[in-house]
Amino acid sequence: MAQADVLRRTPASIDVSDPRLYQDDAWRPLFTRLRQDDPVHYCEASPFGPYWSVTRYDDIVEVELDHDNYSSSSELGGTQIADQPKGHEIANFLRMDPPSHTAHRRTVAPIVGPSNLVNLEPLIRQRTSDVLDALPRNQTFDWASRVSTDLTNRMLTTLLDFPWADREQLTWWSDVAIANVNAPDAIVRSEDERFAELAKMGACFRTLWDARAAAPPAFDLVSMLAHSPATRDLQPREFIGTMALLIVGGNDTTRNSMTAGLMALVAHPEQFDLVRSRPDLIPSLVSEIIRYHSPVLHMRRTARNDVELAGRRIARGDKVVMWYISGNRDEDRIERADEFIIDRRKPRQHLAFGAGIHRCVGDRLAEQQIRILWEEILRRDLSFEIMGPPQRIYSNFIRGIRSLPVRIMG
Ligand code: HEM
Repeated sequence: MAQADVLRRTPASIDVSDPRLYQDDAWRPLFTRLRQDDPVHYCEASPFGPYWSVTRYDDIVEVELDHDNYSSSSELGGTQIADQPKGHEIANFLRMDPPSHTAHRRTVAPIVGPSNLVNLEPLIRQRTSDVLDALPRNQTFDWASRVSTDLTNRMLTTLLDFPWADREQLTWWSDVAIANVNAPDAIVRSEDERFAELAKMGACFRTLWDARAAAPPAFDLVSMLAHSPATRDLQPREFIGTMALLIVGGNDTTRNSMTAGLMALVAHPEQFDLVRSRPDLIPSLVSEIIRYHSPVLHMRRTARNDVELAGRRIARGDKVVMWYISGNRDEDRIERADEFIIDRRKPRQHLAFGAGIHRCVGDRLAEQQIRILWEEILRRDLSFEIMGPPQRIYSNFIRGIRSLPVRIMG
């Protein structure tokens, strides 16, 4: 779609739910327009029904923090612009309100807590080194699969203590869980097909779960869930949903940041030079990569009551969609927000991890994995050339990059 066409549209006709906008990377002018002219925007007709778009940083934070009025509950439709498919609703703690949300989240939080992150550091570094050292030189390869997917998959395998030989299944299930069934190249073509694949995942995890439940408590996600009073009696659908959440949460988001980070640094060689000369900027580079890419495009809430937001009246039952991708480009909060700047004053001030009670529980682990990747890239003084365009996924939920042809020079 040409930029001029986009700008001619009136706010009344703007629908940012179309997955092609993200596959074609054509979303910027629409959100700029909405932030300026109609920041809490009602779209009356979309393939997903009517919905509100919340596009400014401060308004997103307001919705995030007001979980009494804005619900995440699976029964009200869940956390994506597309309602949970009828008859296939799958709950997990992302799609719950307190008190169940609080209890489930508390069960898994220790695995990504500060002391375990210290324990994981040498393992992550070793694996990152192994993956980088095995990459070809002066030859094109796919960065997304060889580096981003492989590293995040290995991490997840460890967190779940999943059988190493079968670990590729985790990536497959993650892809299935977020697949848009209407995509031209969809890997599952209907909700029934998706549900059938995820049921296979459920059966596999049920075997692991039963074995861990019968054994003394161990420090992996399956054992933690199997032993906690809050989660040990999960109903089958909640069980599948919780496993899918942990797999998608840990896999998709981090891997896309790893690919997008390389693209951003190659596209901004002066920023690459800056971090080469100042490795102390790596933590800030990591935050900037995550902000700039915003791997989760949106989260949705459903209004539990009539409520006012930025002067607009939202009615009970309305869908309210928080577009993190837009909040992270809000110039009122983030200076020169459209630019990639690795030495920002407040690099962690962004919305890519959400906010409030659902703020990403794995944020520090994600940052750690990406930090170590860049520390090891710089240690090896690698230079890259991007050999072709990225292949982006057809989704309005995850900003995903399926492949990126890259060459390491020298
Ligand atoms: C760059 C990487 C990541 C990004 C951008 C990201 C983003 C997000 C976002 C936007 C949310 C919802 C926040 C909200 O509703 O306010 C979320 C929740 C969550 N994330 Fe992440 N995530 C990342 C990595 C991870 C990792 C590595 C894990 C696990 C190991 C993880 C596990 C979860 C879980 C379990 C939730 C649900 C939290 C809750 O509902 O309380 N994420 N993440």
